[in-house]
Amino acid sequence: MTKKILVWDVPTRVFHWLQALSFLGAYLTADSEKTREIHVTLGFILFGLIAFRLVWGVVGSKHARFSSFIFHPATVITYVRSLFKNDAQHFVGHNPIGSIAIWLLLGMGIGLGVTGVLLLQDDVADSVVTIHAYLTNGMLVVIAGHLFGVAMSSFLHKENLVRAMITGYKKGAEQHGITHGYAWLGAALVIAAAVFAYLYNR
Ligand code: HEM
Repeated sequence: MTKKILVWDVPTRVFHWLQALSFLGAYLTADSEKTREIHVTLGFILFGLIAFRLVWGVVGSKHARFSSFIFHPATVITYVRSLFKNDAQHFVGHNPIGSIAIWLLLGMGIGLGVTGVLLLQDDVADSVVTIHAYLTNGMLVVIAGHLFGVAMSSFLHKENLVRAMITGYKKGAEQHGITHGYAWLGAALVIAAAVFAYLYNR
């Protein structure tokens, strides 16, 4: 029997939306000397959020764990076939195609953070600037794919994935739900980001 079940814990949701906002904010403030401090602050916040996500992917709740969205290539192929047969397989957590975008976004986010930190050093090689710029453009392409995938998946399964990433709830079998939201950890993430932004710009 399907009912409303908690799928995304609070830290995963807070991570997601802060990550999206900090990336978009950093992107919009990248080109002007006047907004450089904001760009660097948001870049550090993004890097810190990804560092948190790497840990939460190991110790977090069921659907936040990396092990729940590392798929065997055969599973990816079966999923793609199901899409073509107009009989899309349903996954309570991330689906096999969506997870590819997620791995790319996390990986490129790490690359952006590392090259960003290097750019703060004196005498940095031009290649670092180039890699930082390529990664930014790569992120934009993958984000476009991510948004398309979210829209398609929401349409195919008649479930609003954006709302689920806000509320944490989806419809599913009770045994697939999680029992703890870890709201305190989500709140701690928001506070940590705000305190960092304040101290870094003091
Ligand atoms: C308004 C823009 C965005 C919307 C509406 C959105 C929506 C979503 C949704 C619905 C999911 C869950 C997908 C699923 O059910 O499998 C998700 C996951 C994810 N999104 Fe986005 N997204 C947005 C922007 C971004 C941006 C800008 C980034 C990267 C900078 C991003 C990175 C991710 C990542 C890494 C996950 C996996 C979450 C996790 O397990 O930690 N998203 N997004």
